[in-house]
Amino acid sequence: MVFQPQLKILISRDDIAEAVDRLACEIKRDYQGKQPLLIGVLKGSFVFMADLIRQLDLPLELDFIRLSCYGAARESSGKVKVVQGVKTPIKGIDVLVVEDIVDTGITISFLLDYFKKKQPASLKVCTLTDKPSRRRVPVPIDYRGFTVPNKFIVGYGLDCDQKFRNLPHIYALED
Ligand code: IMP
Ligand code: MG
Repeated sequence: MVFQPQLKILISRDDIAEAVDRLACEIKRDYQGKQPLLIGVLKGSFVFMADLIRQLDLPLELDFIRLSCYGAARESSGKVKVVQGVKTPIKGIDVLVVEDIVDTGITISFLLDYFKKKQPASLKVCTLTDKPSRRRVPVPIDYRGFTVPNKFIVGYGLDCDQKFRNLPHIYALED
């Protein structure tokens, strides 16, 4: 891996693995006897999703949704659009939305409204990281890996201008 001097490790791969184990335990406990549908928000959640489902000994299904909101910038435009929807039926299903990060809360708030209309049996949110200092819309978070400071973070699926998703740790991007 090329040395990236502007990146500082914030959460190591070992700490991420430990958090994924803990979240999987909580989810397994809460979804006993159920067949949840995990919906990952592309692209950021795909690494977390891949690790999480392999710790989940449940008859789960998974799907992904792709949204547009950020463009190439680091700031949300505040407008969310569905670019690629979920094909799996949702009505009467226990849905768990899987995110890489909840920042302003605009995305999760939009998704909860969007999925609620499809009448799932239940609807919950699991996020690997949470940046509450940036919240603009209050959102419920059922499963949270880490609370992170007000810094832009990359790695383990998270990007900056589509770069750094492949890094194994989570880093803070220093300006
Ligand atoms: P929100 O709508 O502001 O909560 O932002 C949600 C989305 O913005 C996340 O799913 C990420 O894709 C992106 N995002 C927000 N903060 C960061 C960050 O620090 N690093 C990378 N992506 C971020
Ligand atoms: Mg995301």
